Amino acid sequence: MALLDVLFCCLLAVWHCQPGLGLPLAPAGGQSPAPAVGQFWHVTDLHLDPTYHITDDHTKVCASSKGTNASNPGPFGDVMCDSPYYLILSAFDFIKNSGQEASFMIWTGDSPPHVPVHELSTDIVINVIANMTTTIRSLFPNLQVFPALGNHDYWPQVNLTSTSRSAKRNFPISSDMLQYYLNLTDANLKGESNWKLEYILTQTYDIEDLQPKSLYGLAKQFAILDSKKFIKYYNYFFVSYDSSVICNEKCKVFQICAITSLDHNSYVDCLKQYYMKHHL
Ligand SMILES: *[C@@H]1O[C@H](CO)[C@@H](O)[C@H](O)[C@H]1NC(C)=O
Ligand SMILES: *[C@@H]1O[C@H](CO)[C@@H](O)[C@H](O)[C@H]1NC(C)=O
Ligand SMILES: *[C@@H]1O[C@H](CO)[C@@H](O)[C@H](O)[C@H]1NC(C)=O
Ligand SMILES: *[C@@H]1O[C@H](CO)[C@@H](O)[C@H](O)[C@H]1NC(C)=O
Repeated sequence: MALLDVLFCCLLAVWHCQPGLGLPLAPAGGQSPAPAVGQFWHVTDLHLDPTYHITDDHTKVCASSKGTNASNPGPFGDVMCDSPYYLILSAFDFIKNSGQEASFMIWTGDSPPHVPVHELSTDIVINVIANMTTTIRSLFPNLQVFPALGNHDYWPQVNLTSTSRSAKRNFPISSDMLQYYLNLTDANLKGESNWKLEYILTQTYDIEDLQPKSLYGLAKQFAILDSKKFIKYYNYFFVSYDSSVICNEKCKVFQICAITSLDHNSYVDCLKQYYMKHHL
């Protein structure tokens, strides 16, 4: 369904990280002073839909709605559609003018839209990625950008959607993460985008840092029946779009396994285990 993915399109985060990984954040040499804290932007799942346009027939607004009606299309997009170019520009504009000093950007791909396989081709996928690359280079000529391919950056697409998501979020050296979002309804109504801080990871989930041990502890807390932290997580997963959407037992298993199991085989094993345990 397009809904889920549009919300992903707007995923922007600043990660605070301690020196490590050989990134150019730590001074070289013997006695190190107080640990430097660096920041970087993480941009992912832009999912540009070049077909997006406003028209009276709401089934024709975007190819990514796959024939369903767009709900309330405006210049910044629609929840049933992938991102129009204008939405992506607004996100980059926010990054540029946020006042946050970032040392670099990590761009974890998934730029093409979610449309039926036969509506895409290698040419379209390459054009979309080239478009995004040119756009980022021209807006951030002096920022180092580390790109990585997502499962949608191929054609035909690689069938790993749920697992690739969690893998993408795994930055073990980070000490904190700030996530920003855009209220699409509000932006379309006012004709201007007002990107806001959605949450700060350590504060929201009351964890010490983003070290693997802390994150693993958090994942275990998510798995507990009726976990309040999981409900919070699920609400943010939908970018606060509709907090009345409830994730039932079965839905929760998919989420928990996608968080804890990074490759396809262990993901499938995880699902099987939970299914047996809970007789789902
Ligand atoms: C990217 O595509 C959009 C339409 O989707 C177009 O308006 C824009 O000019 C393109 N930009 C580049 C750099 O190719
Ligand atoms: C889209 O909306 C129109 C007008 O409300 C309606 O007539 C049509 O059946 C809807 N199409 C779909 C596919 O839901
Ligand atoms: C993707 O994987 C799922 C589950 O393994 C399967 O049901 C589906 O048919 C696959 N889709 C494609 C396009 O291969
Ligand atoms: C988004 O904006 C609309 C219109 O301004 C508002 O009614 C709604 O409460 C906002 N949603 C969130 C989650 O802030």
